[in-house]
Amino acid sequence: MKRDLLTLKDLSRDEILYLIDRGLEIKRAGRSVGAPLQGYALGLMFDKASTRTRVSFEVAMGRLGGQTLFLSKADTQMSRDEPVKDTARVLSRYLDVLAVRTYAQALVEEMARWASIPIINALTDMYHPCQILSDLMTVKEKRGTLDNLKVAWVGDGNNVAHSWINAARILGFKLVLACPPAYTPDPVVMKGCGREITLVTDPVEAVQDADIINTDVWASMGQEKERGKRLADFQGFQVNASLVSKAKPDVLIMHCLPAHRSEEISEEVLEGERSAVFDQAENKMHLHQALLEMLVLGNKRS
Ligand code: CP
Ligand code: NVA
Repeated sequence: MKRDLLTLKDLSRDEILYLIDRGLEIKRAGRSVGAPLQGYALGLMFDKASTRTRVSFEVAMGRLGGQTLFLSKADTQMSRDEPVKDTARVLSRYLDVLAVRTYAQALVEEMARWASIPIINALTDMYHPCQILSDLMTVKEKRGTLDNLKVAWVGDGNNVAHSWINAARILGFKLVLACPPAYTPDPVVMKGCGREITLVTDPVEAVQDADIINTDVWASMGQEKERGKRLADFQGFQVNASLVSKAKPDVLIMHCLPAHRSEEISEEVLEGERSAVFDQAENKMHLHQALLEMLVLGNKRS
């Protein structure tokens, strides 16, 4: 049966750990992983901008020997109201896997319901599961282990934060989120969270003893009109040298990028020696190879 990745909850703990290790193995192997996806095709249907996700998926598929078709949603008949259920079934006749970046989580769910090929959520307003897989790969690469991990999230309780929450629940690591009261994660995502996940309003409290400090933009794609208000509401939530000094000396600074310097993160911290942001970006390419192998070929073991 085909497997989708619509949220991290579609993967078991063992599968997440496998993907992280396989991503690291692929990175070590460089270009010599063979061409297991020769003759296979990946579609990327994007309705929002992307640099990293698009390019890393395209290069990942190329390194595995497969081909990619980039489909701006606006250039497809979906922009002229062709139903999702027809699009999903038609694309399933050409492609072997489809990654979708869009607004509504319901759209990727509907696509998955009708498609006979794996559907990958390449970011929705609600989740960004691929991001957290490669971020966890970066954590393991830098720390050597995911054991005894404390992650701090400082800023908006957004799609990336939601996927960190899912990851903490599945893997059982400690996650403390510091968000302004009006910008906490969706209660649907928080529902049933145990003691390993806590919500606070003070960034200093969140970063104490943290191994990782994570942040993201204050206005995500689709929230452009709220930008002015958000900039005011998030004052005090910047990841800067003063905040970082309250965490462990070897804390890693993470940001999925793109970053807005002097807003959610200072230039000094983003460019500083604790910053892992460009490793995170690179690791998307390696992790996406592991993910494509798993979803297209059913690989769970190397
Ligand atoms: N981190 C991330 O998803 O970046 P892009 O929006 O450039 O794909
Ligand atoms: N939260 C951001 C992440 C971008 C990769 C957004 O959705 O725009």
